Amino acid sequence: MINMLFEPTTAENAESAAPVDVTSFFSMPHQASTFAESTDGLYKFVVTLDFLFFAAIMSVAIYFAWTYRRQSKDQKTSSLTHSGLIEFLWSAIPAVLLIIIFIWGEIDYVRQSTPPADPLRVNVIGRTWAWDVSYPDYPGVELHTDNEGSKTALVVPTGRPVQLTLTSKDVIHSFFIPAFRIKKDVVPGRYTNMWFEAKRPGRFNLFCAEFCGDSHSRMIGAVEVVKPDEFEARLQKLYEEASYNLTELKPAEYGEKLATLYGCTACHSTDGTRKTGPSWKGLFGKQETLATGETVTVDAEYIRTAVYEPNAQIVAGFEGVNMPSYAGQIKDATQAKEIFPDNPDQADQLAAIIAYIQSL
Ligand code: CUA
Repeated sequence: MINMLFEPTTAENAESAAPVDVTSFFSMPHQASTFAESTDGLYKFVVTLDFLFFAAIMSVAIYFAWTYRRQSKDQKTSSLTHSGLIEFLWSAIPAVLLIIIFIWGEIDYVRQSTPPADPLRVNVIGRTWAWDVSYPDYPGVELHTDNEGSKTALVVPTGRPVQLTLTSKDVIHSFFIPAFRIKKDVVPGRYTNMWFEAKRPGRFNLFCAEFCGDSHSRMIGAVEVVKPDEFEARLQKLYEEASYNLTELKPAEYGEKLATLYGCTACHSTDGTRKTGPSWKGLFGKQETLATGETVTVDAEYIRTAVYEPNAQIVAGFEGVNMPSYAGQIKDATQAKEIFPDNPDQADQLAAIIAYIQSL
């Protein structure tokens, strides 16, 4: 895992690896956003002060301990007085330094909390253990990570503010791009915002920075920063990938791709093995007993409910799994028509997944 993260990006692993590009005396990642310089400046200022004060205080302490050590058994402590000037200085100097640190931090905090007008808008959903990213102004463009490697989770242009709206499907995650010096909690039931402006093209790490269970450390991805004139073309390519050149695929084949894309197969095996959720092999048409004791036949309608309201009809033996809903992510016929107007029938993702399950 660690080795994978430190591998340099080459043409062959460009899709699955991201560089950890540590530079400089302070071992900071590259400064790839407009926030980075000031954030690093403050950090270096604080660390430098720490070292200086440590050295100054320890030198004085050692000097005094030696100079004023007890010289003989009956030596008495000489009478003590104090210096008003020194006492004033050791209070005033740190107070001024703390005020500088506060004002510096406050200015950066306010700047980072206030997105500029007309940003590129991006929606981010965290779920155990992947990121789903979509662009409201570019319907159909979607990026998904899995917990296999560092897949591209976000593509942004340089020189344009990007505003992220983040939420979670299940537990608290944290969206962290070290090279941009930005991090924000991603909380279920709440929408949080963050923004940044990327400064230079490249591929940078995205981490989940909040312990969120089993595969937390694998909830990783990469952010791709491209030049502004390459951005539209890159998104067009992503749009085509998301629609998978639909005309060439049979529904079941498209469904198989979607099952990987949306991470279904992380919990549902296709070979009969029991994972977190029921296996899909031979599932279609099967009689299942629910946790409530009722019996249902697995048909298209049952799968639809399982995808959009997963906790409505839980199969006996899988209580407490808490699968997240895929409403709004896996498109049904109505949503597909809006997003892929050229090819609505074949863009019906729910139908494709049902066809795939049927084929197993
Ligand atoms: Cu998501 Cu840690």
